[in-house]
Amino acid sequence: MRRRLTGRVVLLTGATRGIGRRVALALQSHGVRLAITGRSEAELESLAVELRKTGTEVAVLPCDLTIASARERLVADVVAKFGQLDILLNAAGVSSFGEFSTSTEEILRKVLEINFFAAGELTRLCVPQLEKSWQAGPADWRPAVLHVVSLCGRVGIPSLPEHCGSKHALVGLCEALRCEFERHGIDMLMVLPGVVRSDDLNRHLLRNEGKIYLNFEGAQRPESVAKTVVNALVNNRKETAAGFVCWWAWFCKRAAPRALRWIMAVKVAKFARRNTG
Ligand SMILES: NC(=O)c1ccc[n+]([C@@H]2O[C@H](COP(=O)([O-])OP(=O)(O)OC[C@H]3O[C@@H](n4cnc5c(N)ncnc54)[C@H](OP(=O)(O)O)[C@@H]3O)[C@@H](O)[C@H]2O)c1
Repeated sequence: MRRRLTGRVVLLTGATRGIGRRVALALQSHGVRLAITGRSEAELESLAVELRKTGTEVAVLPCDLTIASARERLVADVVAKFGQLDILLNAAGVSSFGEFSTSTEEILRKVLEINFFAAGELTRLCVPQLEKSWQAGPADWRPAVLHVVSLCGRVGIPSLPEHCGSKHALVGLCEALRCEFERHGIDMLMVLPGVVRSDDLNRHLLRNEGKIYLNFEGAQRPESVAKTVVNALVNNRKETAAGFVCWWAWFCKRAAPRALRWIMAVKVAKFARRNTG
């Protein structure tokens, strides 16, 4: 199935920077109408200026997604502005890089709050509107919810315990909803990036004290992840590992899980050697 996006209303979270911002820019050529959200209004406005240059219709709707009433207002505002909602594309999230034994309950709860609870609750809120979109659309139209998950949703990576917990939970939710949502005509899609170059690591990470060697310099560009996200949406890919390294690790988890655990251990040892040598 190929999803034609022209004229469709997309609610995009995490649009202020990083992957979400690049997804907004990549969607321009598909003729969507965009509701963009995140907490920083200034960053949303600057993105809206860029999008409007190419004639894209944009609504700037700043929102802290961890607040229930703000989520409800967000969905209501999208419908008030555009009269419909056809796609929820969730790219909001935070991470924490550090060992679990020295982390805190506050970090664990903060990561779960945005990466899992907000993602789940926003999905629930959008169901009635997405179902309406399905019922009102042509026979070949299917609305969708696409979550930008992470390789951490399929593989347990040392020094990313909170992120892995939140993303495994989100993957589980998506897989359960995929079957449930059949009767609402809604597709559940997931894109799993590996390590991605961040616009601002200090805002992305609640903590940056990880003890594993990760190649941040060689990390994927957010533009390339955005391209994968848009492809997954257009071609209705249920689960897409973004980039070769991520695909390889994702495949290895299924085909040779012990080998993957060994590689993780090597990376932890490599970090320790670099920091003692
Ligand atoms: N970067 C990576 O290496 C990587 C790898 C795999 C998966 N991912 C996942 O990909 C997604 C995007 O990551 P990224 O690299 O683009 O991160 P990023 O550059 O830090 O952007 C995160 C986005 O989430 C928004 N956000 C954070 N907390 C929010 C809240 N409480 N309410 C509303 N919006 C909030 C931020 O906007 P405001 O701060 O303005 O609110 C920002 O737009 C996340 O789910 C992340 O877990 C990232």
